[in-house]
Amino acid sequence: MLKGKKVVLGVTGSIAAYKAAEITRALVKERALVKVIMTASATRFITPLTFQTLSNNPVAVDMFEEPVAWEIEHISLAKWADVFLIAPATANVIGKMAAGIADDMLTTTVMATRAPVVVAPAMNVNMYTNPITQHNIDVLKQNGYHFVQPESGELACGDRGQGRLADIKDIVDCVRSLFIKKDLAGKRILVTAGPTREPIDPVRYISNYSSGKMGYALAKAARDRGAEVVLVSGPVSISPPSGVMLERINTAEEMMRSVLKHFDNVDAVIMAAAVADYRPMEYSEVKIKKSDEDMVVHLGKNPDILKELGFRKGKQVLIGFAAETNDVMLNAGKKLREKNLDMIVVNDVTQPGAGFEVDTNIVNVMTRDGDVKSFPLMDKGELSHMILDLAVDLMVR
Ligand code: CTP
Repeated sequence: MLKGKKVVLGVTGSIAAYKAAEITRALVKERALVKVIMTASATRFITPLTFQTLSNNPVAVDMFEEPVAWEIEHISLAKWADVFLIAPATANVIGKMAAGIADDMLTTTVMATRAPVVVAPAMNVNMYTNPITQHNIDVLKQNGYHFVQPESGELACGDRGQGRLADIKDIVDCVRSLFIKKDLAGKRILVTAGPTREPIDPVRYISNYSSGKMGYALAKAARDRGAEVVLVSGPVSISPPSGVMLERINTAEEMMRSVLKHFDNVDAVIMAAAVADYRPMEYSEVKIKKSDEDMVVHLGKNPDILKELGFRKGKQVLIGFAAETNDVMLNAGKKLREKNLDMIVVNDVTQPGAGFEVDTNIVNVMTRDGDVKSFPLMDKGELSHMILDLAVDLMVR
């Protein structure tokens, strides 16, 4: 998605400046073209040569030292940029940008650009929470600047709190999201993800291998396309995408309640969760002790959430998933009809690279009219966009 995109990366004088080298690498790896501008104080933390080597482009620092081949440099870089990223951004630079001060190469160029600007702050927690910094951030946000929030944790100065530069992945994600079409703006989408856990006693449960990766990737892709996303998630070990409304549940019944609560207010539901079909009929409040006998756990049927939604369905687009091992398309078609779905995403979990736990998937997508589209092995993030392309078509009908 970033291939051939021109990124101007502004690096300012924070201890996190070294992380900008990683950001440059990540952008270059995605085949973006990167040109770096450093403030004078940034060069005290890391050398321009590092960025020149990583970006394969000259690095601009001094306003008045113009390389022969360039025009008025701050103007040419400002025009060249498809996106402007400032990472790390100090309180000082944020303050200058908010006040309209342009007194060095970076602040002059950013003021002259028409490209979208992404700012990733990094500073001491007290500087970050200082009302003046917060006011400056608000001013920039009101003017359309995008912010990638700093994380909480241990800071270089020894303090703890919010101020640590956001994860590099999140920063690159934010840059990438600017190039994604916002065709789901104004839509509310509910995504379910992960397994459900059906308890036997306080220390045991029945569940499945779902990692939540597909559902989380879908939630993130929908968010990037401008949708308001509700993510109802079973217990998983991955972090949720920022900016989505997350509801954590454990059991199928809890998932059912959570989904029904939102159903009337959403435009589409994507049920990527691997809902346990059965649950132990009896729950023991105390840990069950072993005995010499075999143990029998009676399982009762869980509600079929998607089937219930199919029954209640109004204008909502309903998308189900099917994990199959045999008669794949036949079974999927049956599920689509029985659950009154608009679309079903089918994976043959016997294929390597498909299904649970992995980062990739191989799917066929069947729509209500019987149309089938096959997708080769691809990353779950990329596949999410393909699925959403089809969902958008269904939503506008
Ligand atoms: N699903 C659901 N509630 C359940 C079981 C499944 O909402 N109790 C949803 C899943 O989230 C998925 C779709 O139904 O989107 C298909 O799930 P799957 O388990 O593959 O199908 P089942 O209908 O449970 O049939 P089977 O297990 O026999 O294949």
